[in-house]
Amino acid sequence: MKKTITICFANNKGGSGKSTTCANVGYELSKMGYKVLLIDGDMQMNLSLSFLDEDRVLETAKNGENLYTAVKEQKDIKEFILNTGYENLDLVPSSTLMSSIEYELFTKWQREFILRKCLKNVKESGVYDFILLDAPPTLGGWVMNLLCASDHLIIPVEASPWGLFGLANMFEFFATVKELSPELNLLGVAVTKVYERKNYFKQTVEYLSETPDVYLFENYIRVDSSIEWAQDNCKPVAVYKPSARSAKEYKALAEEVISLVNR
Ligand SMILES: Nc1ncnc2c1ncn2[C@@H]1O[C@H](COP(=O)(O)OP(=O)(O)OP(=O)(O)O)[C@@H](O)[C@H]1O
Ligand SMILES: [Mg+2]
Repeated sequence: MKKTITICFANNKGGSGKSTTCANVGYELSKMGYKVLLIDGDMQMNLSLSFLDEDRVLETAKNGENLYTAVKEQKDIKEFILNTGYENLDLVPSSTLMSSIEYELFTKWQREFILRKCLKNVKESGVYDFILLDAPPTLGGWVMNLLCASDHLIIPVEASPWGLFGLANMFEFFATVKELSPELNLLGVAVTKVYERKNYFKQTVEYLSETPDVYLFENYIRVDSSIEWAQDNCKPVAVYKPSARSAKEYKALAEEVISLVNR
């Protein structure tokens, strides 16, 4: 039986492209024929809103059909899976209640591994080729849960003056989680929101390519307003505008992910 690969998109720096990358890489993998489950781990619900409209997301929040309930009640994630409307692409939505998830976890036994336990049956069933998890822009017990439930970490970094700020903390956090979950692997850093002509893009790439033990994805994502239009319409960019530059870039990034995990 094939093994399900779990990948978390995390960076404590806000707005670095985590949710956009998780949604669009997920969509591209599903289009290649892989079966993909997306897990929205952020109270901002941006990954959920990438596929479902606001009314539907609020409904799933109200009905408790979301990740918060699964984790709080330590239930099998299977009960919380929805289809995104695209073949091979499913989703566990988030809820604004995720803002109190740290509090919920606090008193639980082996609290770093609650999400891993919720995912266990689905992961072991081998139904999905990939489970992709979108993390909030924090570093704490909840992100630790997301990482302890993952085989790989991808850190999206925005090519901006402050894009590298705090990255050292992210690397330190990764090292701490690895002590708890030794199989966690840093797959790489993916640069997003790139203006090639701006100096800080070159600086970002220079810095990252000189950072030891860190793979820098060859495919990066340039700034493209189609991404925002697509998100406004709750669609992956490749659906909203198939000819968009970023659609091709996300396809190439997804192919690079495949080559790195040997799928
Ligand atoms: N390539 C791009 N071109 C233009 N805009 C982009 C691009 N990638 C992301 N954005 C925009 O940048 C903003 C931040 O992106 P995104 O929400 O994916 O980051 P994030 O790291 O998930 O943020 P947060 O830390 O708040 O969860 C969004 O408004 C998104 O529309
Ligand atoms: Mg996000």
